Amino acid sequence: MFDLFYQSRRIVLVRLLAVCLFVSVLSTVPLADARIRRYKWEVKYEYQSPDCYKKLVIAINGRTPGPSIIAQQNDTIIVELRNSLLTENVAIHWHGIRQKGTPWFDGTEGVTQCPILPGDTFTYQFVVDRPGTYLYHAHYGMQREAGLYGSIRVSLPDGESEPFSYDFDRSIILNDWYHKSAYEQATGLSSIPFVWVGEPQSLLIQGRGRFNCSSPSVEPSSCNATNPECSPYVLTVVPGKTYRLRISSLTALSALSFEIEGHNMTVVEADGHNVEPFVMKNLFIYSGETYSVLIEADQDPSRNYWASVAVVGRNRTTPNGLAIFNYYPNHPRRSPPTVPPPGPIWNDVTPRIAQSLSIKAREGYIHPHPLKPDRVIVFLNTQNKINGHIRWSVNNVSFEHPHTPYLIALKENLLHGIEQNPPPSGYDFVNYDIFSVAKNVNATTSNSIYRLQFNTTVDIILQNANTMTPNNSETHPWHLHGHNFWVLGYGTGKFDMYNDPKNYNLVNPIMKNTVPVHPYGWTALRFRTDNPGVWAFHCHIESHFYMGMGVVFEEGIEKVGQLPTSIMGCGETKGFQRP
Ligand code: C2O
Ligand code: CU
Repeated sequence: MFDLFYQSRRIVLVRLLAVCLFVSVLSTVPLADARIRRYKWEVKYEYQSPDCYKKLVIAINGRTPGPSIIAQQNDTIIVELRNSLLTENVAIHWHGIRQKGTPWFDGTEGVTQCPILPGDTFTYQFVVDRPGTYLYHAHYGMQREAGLYGSIRVSLPDGESEPFSYDFDRSIILNDWYHKSAYEQATGLSSIPFVWVGEPQSLLIQGRGRFNCSSPSVEPSSCNATNPECSPYVLTVVPGKTYRLRISSLTALSALSFEIEGHNMTVVEADGHNVEPFVMKNLFIYSGETYSVLIEADQDPSRNYWASVAVVGRNRTTPNGLAIFNYYPNHPRRSPPTVPPPGPIWNDVTPRIAQSLSIKAREGYIHPHPLKPDRVIVFLNTQNKINGHIRWSVNNVSFEHPHTPYLIALKENLLHGIEQNPPPSGYDFVNYDIFSVAKNVNATTSNSIYRLQFNTTVDIILQNANTMTPNNSETHPWHLHGHNFWVLGYGTGKFDMYNDPKNYNLVNPIMKNTVPVHPYGWTALRFRTDNPGVWAFHCHIESHFYMGMGVVFEEGIEKVGQLPTSIMGCGETKGFQRP
């Protein structure tokens, strides 16, 4: 009780509340008052069995997914994070929150802050300035995969409403799950010979999945099919009601398709932006994306239904993840009488591109967008071999984290160890054959970054290509920190600089923070460099970013306010003294 009360207090009322005058006072507070929401989190390794297989997970206050942050627009979130991992650093990123005025609390290790050391407590403080569905997760090495993630739900201020209606609001996070530790995987990825992470062992819906404990390779003591930790997630619905279901993905690798047997979903929100509604039987979702769909509990209420999630885009070996869509008052554990939906064919890209193209800004909610860019950057996505290592590259440069986080290095002039030459702004797109195995012999690793002019419009064209395997091109969900961008278009084949921009959607482009580039395709997006700071832009597949698939943008560094010393302590910032 005290906790709830503590988290929702209004700034101006702190003292009054403390003396328990709240009942009479609350009703007189103006509706637009922003609140402070305070969280105390302890991050710790624990043994858990999300898919019945017992392994070490990183939990927040004992939980994975961690506690949800529930706030209203313009609230201030304060998270006091204690790192109790004992031998491991940590950093947490607030995915989709732009961090206007607080670029140092973006939580991106190596970009905006030094890692939080074992035993240390670090306080994040930022404003959630837009309503919508967002996420948080570890942003240090491949730590996110160990289970350090959760959801952020920002609702409109009291008295304002969404342009759609529903009776109940629910959130689920989809994930894929590996039994090997993130360290074992990371070591394999950077070894010669290369050891690929492979397909995940299971898919989780809101932290619950099911691994087959009776498979011969499993030691019986480490897998227990009757462990309540791995009983399926249950979404209970009241017949006749409409549910807003917020669906997010934080997979390490997999692109997913989500569906609820016998029920349609109306997509109304994507990455915090209202979507012109469209109806789907199954929703494709990529790591880092969030959607809200409306679901009506309008089917035969005498039974339960399967909610199912399947891998797409890779030849799936991971069994589908299942949850129970439970019609009240049926028993929540009663299995539906049907065979769960198998999910779409894994290698049919057409419906996935069609869904991408259907996502448009809702009428009345179209953000005015600049009609022309000041700068266009083409990012060729390739897989390369660099000094014997398999890497992902952007314009032949494979990203490497610096020892001194860029934000501090650039702001405080601690540039030693950071490459000063700008990375290439494009590639020889006339001659590059995106359909054959990359022969980019001159690819390099580098920590150089893109310096963007403040308050300008930048277009990014993500160009996909063949991997090092013949006839193979993968889907990459790209996520931009510190911004929302307009999605101008998707295409197949090689981007045509002269003709493709003529077909951009300049009527009702959706704004997002994560967007897929489809196999052998391109995706065009546009953003304003209006948020002083240093921002990562990377593929949200954990292993791909670890293998170099990302870039960093700087904009308006001179406008960044005084950095808190709490983000320092590593690289050149050791013992930093402000002159
Ligand atoms: Cu959700 Cu840089 O990531
Ligand atoms: Cu990728």
